[in-house]
Amino acid sequence: MTEPSRPVIVVNFKVYREVEGTKALDIARICGSVSKGSGISIAACPPMTELGNIARSVDIPVFSQNADPCLPGSSTGWSTPSMIKAAGAAGTLINHAEHRQTIRNISQVIELSRGCGLKTIVCADSVGAAVRIARFAPDMIAVEPPELIGGDVSVTDADPAIVENTVSAVKKVNKGISVLCGAGVKTGKDVKKALELGAGGVLLASGVVKAKDPREALLDLVRYL
Ligand code: G3P
Repeated sequence: MTEPSRPVIVVNFKVYREVEGTKALDIARICGSVSKGSGISIAACPPMTELGNIARSVDIPVFSQNADPCLPGSSTGWSTPSMIKAAGAAGTLINHAEHRQTIRNISQVIELSRGCGLKTIVCADSVGAAVRIARFAPDMIAVEPPELIGGDVSVTDADPAIVENTVSAVKKVNKGISVLCGAGVKTGKDVKKALELGAGGVLLASGVVKAKDPREALLDLVRYL
């Protein structure tokens, strides 16, 4: 299990066809080799079905795409922070725009994750949501305007203010939280701009997973770092 360090590029594999079965490990290995060659921390968020296999096969931080507020025991079909940790993951995403959780559940997942040594990246769709989440002290908050997700215009161009404002608002609550930004991020220029706006890194998906050549896409993403 490897820990992420700043700046970090977090690649969410989502559940695209491109990552079904062993194809997820192929992309995770590319993330690993670009991370090794560039010295930049690249974290992979594979689908839950591939999480353990990938976490045991690569030397980069691996995060699950979600975790449930659930303790080990007599429950069915849930993903507990404890089992995600046991699978070898470094952390978990929580509250992605495509997998929302209630604020109560977010706080419980953060607490359970902290209890078992799992890092948390909590997604937020606005400055206000990020501030509410910051009070629970996750490791990272990723601000992503939902309408830009999967598109070709990066949040850093379409709405730089949301990135800057989220960074300053979150830091007022807790300086230790790293703020990432995401939605439409595809190039090294986007990553550079994200860092200029104060972000500690980026969270992205289609720019790598749907790219014709994911290795080239990742090499471009780390170009200016
Ligand atoms: O989790 C990252 C995601 O929501 C952004 O997706 O495809 O716009 O990079 P994408």
